[in-house]
Amino acid sequence: MIIKPKFKGFICTTAHPEGCARSVKEQIDYVKQQSPVKGPKNVLVIGASTGYGLASRIVSTFSSGANTIGVFFEKPAAGNKTATAGWYNTVAFEQVAKEENYYAKSINGDAFSTETKEEVIELIKKDLGQVDLVIYSLAAPRRVHPVTGETLVSSIKPVGKSFTSKNLDFHSEKVAEITLEPASDEEVRQAVGVMGGEDWEMWIEALRNAGVLATGATTISYSYIGPELTYPIYREGTIGKAKGSLEAAAQKIHSELSSQGGKAFVSVNKALVTQASTAIPAMSLYMSLLFKVMKEKGIHENCVEQIYRLFIEQLYSTHMTLDEKGRIRLDDWEMKEEVQREVLALWQDVSTENVGALSDVAGYRNDFFRLFGFGFDDVEYDQDVDIQLAIPSIND
Ligand code: NAI
Repeated sequence: MIIKPKFKGFICTTAHPEGCARSVKEQIDYVKQQSPVKGPKNVLVIGASTGYGLASRIVSTFSSGANTIGVFFEKPAAGNKTATAGWYNTVAFEQVAKEENYYAKSINGDAFSTETKEEVIELIKKDLGQVDLVIYSLAAPRRVHPVTGETLVSSIKPVGKSFTSKNLDFHSEKVAEITLEPASDEEVRQAVGVMGGEDWEMWIEALRNAGVLATGATTISYSYIGPELTYPIYREGTIGKAKGSLEAAAQKIHSELSSQGGKAFVSVNKALVTQASTAIPAMSLYMSLLFKVMKEKGIHENCVEQIYRLFIEQLYSTHMTLDEKGRIRLDDWEMKEEVQREVLALWQDVSTENVGALSDVAGYRNDFFRLFGFGFDDVEYDQDVDIQLAIPSIND
């Protein structure tokens, strides 16, 4: 089948298997060019198929030589419908891992459910015995609560008062004003229920109770803060409330694990184009400006560069540095004073007329296409490709 990108708002409903493989290969090649990290041995990545979770799986494998189990929620191809990008990413990841004799198995299921947790625990018992690193990198629009059965929905809204902001439609390159109405208390509760720390705590408790968490194991999850400009929609909005809950969970898990030398951290990462972040209003404009400034200064990083830095300079280094709230700050370059000063100045001036010159909207759009395997120079998009690809370990 010849596959072209098809858009529905900020979602692309098709994915290109060869382009996704190309993107995975680029990330693997980057990691292989760096010094190896004496890091984890057996790693569980929850949310392992795209974005920061995929990058974490790639760094664990190709930098530290770790065995990995990846959990995600993706769709295989059906009829003429392509699989999701995360499915093709995992096909490509597992193929390279297998060729190079790394253990890599994947579970496609709802990470919020008790069944998926049990399935993962059985697989760890059977194949690895225990895991010494658990990366929790889920970004989900909803969660069926495993105890109450309630379906919780994560809306992205301001809290307390409405928020009016410039916003960029990166397809048409139009900058226009949007106003978002505040979330109700109920919407805040549900967003925290989906993206907060409860499920992470449930995972760690289940792994501990089953005896599959190694003594001294580390667990980490990813958060975001960003500039004051985006506080109303991010840090002080529904998603920020959820991140507050995630950060509180890190402290709770840390104190539970610490008696056996275990640790739990939150790493505050840089804003990057992923399927999750493109859903957040105003962020596309902020990121397009940020990328322009960071690229000009030579300090722009992508997901795999961020996670490699996390491993080499923080998690597996002897001089980890935490902020006053105990968090790792991989957003340190994004938040540099001079970067933020320039972004803010550009934000004030940017409009439809000058967005191409003032921002890196082209780079943002390119990153967006690449999430789905499009826009790679050396992929022949006019050629027929097989869309029915199986994830090797899922067919084992
Ligand atoms: P993403 O959309 O690329 O990845 C989400 C992952 O979660 C995918 O592997 C997906 O399959 C999986 N997933 C979703 N629902 C699931 C379910 N019910 N069961 C199993 N797996 C499920 O998102 P991204 O951006 O990599 O986000 C990961 C974490 O990083 C999130 O906590 C996010 O808030 C955080 N973060 C993201 C930043 C960004 O700019 N993208 C910045 C800082 C933190």
